[in-house]
Amino acid sequence: MDDLRDKYLAAIANAGDESTLEDLRVQAVGKKGEISLKMRELGKMTPEERQIMGPKLNALKDEINSALAAKKQALSDAALDERLRAEWLDVTLPARGRRMGTIHPVSQVTEEVTAIFADMGFAVAEGPQVESDWHNFDALNIPGHHPARAEMDTFYMHRAADDDRPPHVLRTHTSPVQIRSMEAQGAPIRVICPGRVYRADYDQTHTPMFHQVEGLAIDKDISMANLKWVLEEFCRAFFEVDGVELRFRASHFPFTEPSAEVDIRCSWADGTLKIGEGDDWLEILGSGMVHPKVLMAGDIDPAAWQGFAFGMGIDRIAMLKYGIPDLRAFFDSDLRWLRHYGFASLDQPTLHGGLSR
Ligand code: DAH
Repeated sequence: MDDLRDKYLAAIANAGDESTLEDLRVQAVGKKGEISLKMRELGKMTPEERQIMGPKLNALKDEINSALAAKKQALSDAALDERLRAEWLDVTLPARGRRMGTIHPVSQVTEEVTAIFADMGFAVAEGPQVESDWHNFDALNIPGHHPARAEMDTFYMHRAADDDRPPHVLRTHTSPVQIRSMEAQGAPIRVICPGRVYRADYDQTHTPMFHQVEGLAIDKDISMANLKWVLEEFCRAFFEVDGVELRFRASHFPFTEPSAEVDIRCSWADGTLKIGEGDDWLEILGSGMVHPKVLMAGDIDPAAWQGFAFGMGIDRIAMLKYGIPDLRAFFDSDLRWLRHYGFASLDQPTLHGGLSR
């Protein structure tokens, strides 16, 4: 019995896992186990022998059972410890960057434009997309008979049949925000106004809704020279090339006098557009000195104040900067397109941290 005891206690102590332990239990105290067989032999013994051997065998069986139970507990404690060690996590580690959706190029470019102009002291102003025809046209020196009104392919809002006031419009440009900024804050002013505009037009380069950014600077002595500097500074920062060259071409807008359209030097070598070099010119915006009538419409005295304004297509400069060929894809909500042309959602464009990455 001492041999049995030593054999099993040693084997139990050495068991490395629960199935080895279960095999040992069957071998020792299972139905046909060594100790169980010994207990069966008790029947063949004399009463005296049995009185000695019975309690001894029972004690051995108990000892082995409790060694099995203790080892089982120890193995499962060790397994738990091992798991806890493996699943350990350092909550002080920095977070892993994970891409959560993407930023649409229009949003990205709007942020970039805003960051650049903010650095030059321009605040962001907003106006309604459903606009009075007065703000959209008349206040900007575009009277009812003016061809610009007809040219703009305006969406008109509905009016009740007995309501003969002029209908509101979906704003055809961001220029009405010039008037609203003048009304709201008076002079001096330095704002940009990014936002959606609408025209009934649809082809590869036109969508019924698109985006513009308006600029307006009013002060005592603002001139065309300031306009030129601001736009050059903007283009250098936005296109991220030092040698930008702009061409100011005389033009006409009802709301500015004089007016200029601005072209940027570029090349189209091998079908890819390069900004800042080459022999081609690409029109990027309209601009000029704010017309005295426009200042008056905004309740600003043109004898005391003057300034410049400009209007630029956000979608257009986004296409130019990021080489996006088709405007219509901007508004298709195609996830594959967004993943390709989109921007990481947690990278805010800033002048110090980088505009685009
Ligand atoms: N509003 C014009 C358009 O949508 C763009 C524009 C041209 C805005 C000249 C201006 C400007 O402020 O001075 O076509």
